[in-house]
Order: sequence, then structure tokens, then C-alpha cells
Amino acid sequence: MKVLFLNGPNLNLLGKRQPEIYGTTTLADIEAQVRQRAAADGAEIEFRQTNDEGQLVTWVQQAAGSFDALVINAAGYTHTSVALRDALAASPVPAVEIHLSNIHAREEFRHNSIIAPVCKGQICGFGNASYSLGLAAAISITSRNG
Ligand code: DQA
Repeated sequence: MKVLFLNGPNLNLLGKRQPEIYGTTTLADIEAQVRQRAAADGAEIEFRQTNDEGQLVTWVQQAAGSFDALVINAAGYTHTSVALRDALAASPVPAVEIHLSNIHAREEFRHNSIIAPVCKGQICGFGNASYSLGLAAAISITSRNG
């Protein structure tokens, strides 16, 4: 099975961005951890990051036919992007929403995820482990789907 990991704005700064919230691990380190995990689980992953909302929309649109599941940390666009929600709603590829931090325990504007209703579920608050848990969820929903 193939899982596409999508990362939104500012996640390229992980490691030096607000380490008290997001930790000191870089996105490249997280990718390496997830790759190791995926290899052990017999899954193939692709890992992408962009600061551009339109690019995220395009990647979601293009996932059909090439990937079995999406794991998405939409970062700030989680709370603002109707376009990203529409793309996820239109996609036949099931999506898992993930966040490093617990968005429900932070500022009120982060409590609402615009994309949550069109994802299979949400994992947040487990730091880097949210990514491996996202992979586990992607494998689980895909095998349940057939
Ligand atoms: C985040 C949480 C978002 O609210 C924030 O805008 C991010 C990162 C997380 O992984 O905890 O950029 O998605």
C-alpha cells in the first residue's frame, strides 16, 4: 500500500520553530522515522511539504489512483482553508488528519479544524509520534476498506 504524507506551511521550520510547542526534531528526522516504520509495516510512503495552499489542493487532487491513503498535517490551513476541505471531500482517497500539538488545548482559533469532518479521523497531541500513529491509522482504514 502507498501512503502520501502532506505537510503544510511552516512545518519546514520544525526543529527551530517554537521548540517548546513542536519539539526539536526536524521534518527530515520525522520523515526518516516514518520511513523506518513504514518499511517494517510493508507500506510505501511519499513525504511532501509546502507553504502553498494551492499546492496542497493540487496534491490532494492528484492522489487518486496513485495512493491508498493520505496523512495530512495541514498546519495553519487546518483552521482556514475551505479549498483544502473541498479537495479532501472530493477525493476518493481516505485521509487521516494529524497534528504534533494538541490543537484542542491551545488557542481557541485552533480548536476548529475545517478539514476534520472530511477526514476519517484526527490524531493530535503526540508530538512526532502523531506521524507514526497517522501511518498506523492509514494502514488500518485501508485494510478495513478492503
Ligand atoms: C499544527 C497545529 C496548527 O494549529 C499550527 O498552525 C501548525 C502545526 C501541529 O502540528 O501541531 O502549524 O498543525
